[in-house]
Amino acid sequence: MTLTLDHPLTGQAAQPAPAHPYTEADIGRTEMTPTYRVDLRPDAADVFYDANPINDWRELTWDKIGRPYRVERWSEDKKQWEKEHDQALPVKTAWEMFNRSFQSLFDTVPSAAKQEALGKLGKAAGQLDMHEAWEAVEEAIQWMFWNKIHRVEDAVWDPRGKRALFGGLDVEKPNILFLGAADGYEAMQLMAMYPGGHAVLVDYDDYCRTDRFGNFPEAYPFLGYNPSTGQPKVWYRDQMDIDFEVEDIRNLKYGKEFDLVVSIGLIEHFPDQYKPEAFDMHRRFLKPGGTAIITTPRVQLRTKLFYTVFADIMNFAYRELMDVTHLGLYAYENGFEIMRHGRIKAHNGLICRPR
Ligand SMILES: C[S@@+](CC[C@H](N)C(=O)[O-])C[C@H]1O[C@@H](n2cnc3c(N)ncnc32)[C@H](O)[C@@H]1O
Repeated sequence: MTLTLDHPLTGQAAQPAPAHPYTEADIGRTEMTPTYRVDLRPDAADVFYDANPINDWRELTWDKIGRPYRVERWSEDKKQWEKEHDQALPVKTAWEMFNRSFQSLFDTVPSAAKQEALGKLGKAAGQLDMHEAWEAVEEAIQWMFWNKIHRVEDAVWDPRGKRALFGGLDVEKPNILFLGAADGYEAMQLMAMYPGGHAVLVDYDDYCRTDRFGNFPEAYPFLGYNPSTGQPKVWYRDQMDIDFEVEDIRNLKYGKEFDLVVSIGLIEHFPDQYKPEAFDMHRRFLKPGGTAIITTPRVQLRTKLFYTVFADIMNFAYRELMDVTHLGLYAYENGFEIMRHGRIKAHNGLICRPR
């Protein structure tokens, strides 16, 4: 892929962009490209919130904390599919629709899309077409919102929050298993921080292999570590040893061979009767002493707003929004010892081990 964007630091115009545009000299910088934020600021203490820490998980009960919030405002495409087929949308098909739809946000330049929507609004208003005009307003709001969430605030990839959550693990050259990997972002962040290992990304939607991970920006810099100097280093995906397995995570045949088993936004898609199976997948393939890293979206006003404004793009499958206490209690009840728990921008995070 050859890009001809202005150089992000010097502003020099229209030269083919280097595959690895950032170096260690850029550590400490953050800036926006047209579609995402680059953030090479070393981690700060305030990006992993240990708010209301739980000291003894045995004392927590569902009566005390209530149940997670369920998102039930569905995508129009899901409703349409179900009407046409006269049956509930199968879960795997739901994920195939979700992945294409969510990825379209990452692939679009939000400022240009917003301008296009405003153009449509002007035209529709001129023709007194209120239906078209309202759709154009909704589109423009979505792009403004996406620009703020993903580019300005970087709350989806959240590299500083993830680095804070993943920091301090006792692993060297880890073998990493990523369940429901989608674009594989977090495995790459982990491999930058703990280099020299190997990662297996698993997702049963082949589009994740070919497009979501397959086309993840080669020029995106991951801030990590250089074991030969002991200093911070900037890493890129093509410097990492990653395999992608297209498979249902319930059918995996691995032994207890992974140092880290990771899922990002997976547990909340399993209704309670399936939670034991979901947690078991995080335990089954861990080496003795291995660590599971689990995150789920936070229940907070802005997350509820996100899944309302982006219902058509995001809501194809069962989804809960949780507090970190919900996630921790599920993990504890399903046999995990919780080493660390906290909140990053949009997600709850757990670092845990089978008890
Ligand atoms: C909500 S996404 C994870 C969020 C992710 N960070 C993203 O950017 O979309 C969940 C991913 O898990 C995958 N998935 C869900 N159930 C699965 C299963 N049983 N086996 C394999 N992959 C699964 C879906 O295809 C999807 O890509």
